[in-house]
Amino acid sequence: EMKPLPAMTPKFLKVIDQVCEQCQMDFGPDELEVQVREHILQDLETFIRRHIEGARLKLFGSSKNGFGFKQSDLDICMVLEGQDTAMGLDCISIILSLARALGKHSGLKNIIPIITAKVPIVKFCHVKTGLEGDISLYNRLGLHNTELLASYASIDPRVRQLCYTMKVFTKVCDIGDASRGSLSSYAYTLMVLFYLQQREPPVIPVLQEIYDGQTKPEVLVEGWNIYFFSDLKDLPRRWPSYGQNRESVGELWLGLLRFYTEHFDFKEHVICVRQKDTLSPFQKQWTSKYITIEDPFDLHHNLGGGLSRRMINFIMKAFINGRRVFGTPVNTFPPEYPDKMEYF
Ligand code: CTP
Ligand code: MG
Repeated sequence: EMKPLPAMTPKFLKVIDQVCEQCQMDFGPDELEVQVREHILQDLETFIRRHIEGARLKLFGSSKNGFGFKQSDLDICMVLEGQDTAMGLDCISIILSLARALGKHSGLKNIIPIITAKVPIVKFCHVKTGLEGDISLYNRLGLHNTELLASYASIDPRVRQLCYTMKVFTKVCDIGDASRGSLSSYAYTLMVLFYLQQREPPVIPVLQEIYDGQTKPEVLVEGWNIYFFSDLKDLPRRWPSYGQNRESVGELWLGLLRFYTEHFDFKEHVICVRQKDTLSPFQKQWTSKYITIEDPFDLHHNLGGGLSRRMINFIMKAFINGRRVFGTPVNTFPPEYPDKMEYF
């Protein structure tokens, strides 16, 4: 049981609003930094095409989904012209020749092919900007989930503000590094979107459930249905709750911390952004896991599947502390603590 929070003051709520708005302004890229990423991609593609015939590169992940940090990595997907899928390709030898080619590029360093992972990639560092990047092959679902997230980001400015706030929060609390056994940024973004869909009235719709006619259109990629409603200018007409939620971003942020600490039953429910109805871990046979987050397209993929019990406790504690800190009004801001970090 959570200790009840004291009454919120309008003044403190304004401070939380400002903190949330500031996250995107401070950590998001400016126009120039967005252009730099496109420029690096273009330069890499031109270079690679001299070594690998028909190679095409596409940016995905946070460089494109609307939730990028200035220092976020470059997630790049490579495909070959005239070849729709990776079927029949020797991905490992392509990755190795890609690494060999990139080794000759004077603007890159630390080129490492990783072929033991589930998805083979080449990692690199772009010397001039210090940006890290990786190139994978035929990550088509990654491209589509990037577009889905970008669509949600463009529905309402509060979506981006909250996803930035969540990312900053997970970095500060050290719960946002998937390579060290935590959840990925992508997983936390899905948590924010799910909460915004479940809020009453909702801030965003379930785009995968809006369609013409009786049945959902089927657009198959890698065997999964990647359909979602993308004609966003028509959303006001198609979604009855459009514009109904008028909460401030600070109220929503505090609401999110309370949702995941007081209301949401992790044992009984899956965090699932593809449908409005609740989904239980039993239906998915994910009962051995406490945090279950279903990928919007690859329905076999539980983003919480790799978490250890220890890590789950660590993540839950961060949310509980966050709820207390953001939910307890103070008169000065930042609060006068000996060490700023202590309030997390
Ligand atoms: N992705 C995925 N499934 C995962 C992890 C990642 O499909 N389990 C895809 C998503 O499209 C994600 C992209 O890979 O956006 C890049 O992942 P990552 O770099 O970890 O996250 P970003 O969203 O790019 O955020 P960050 O700013 O932290 O790089
Ligand atoms: Mg990334």
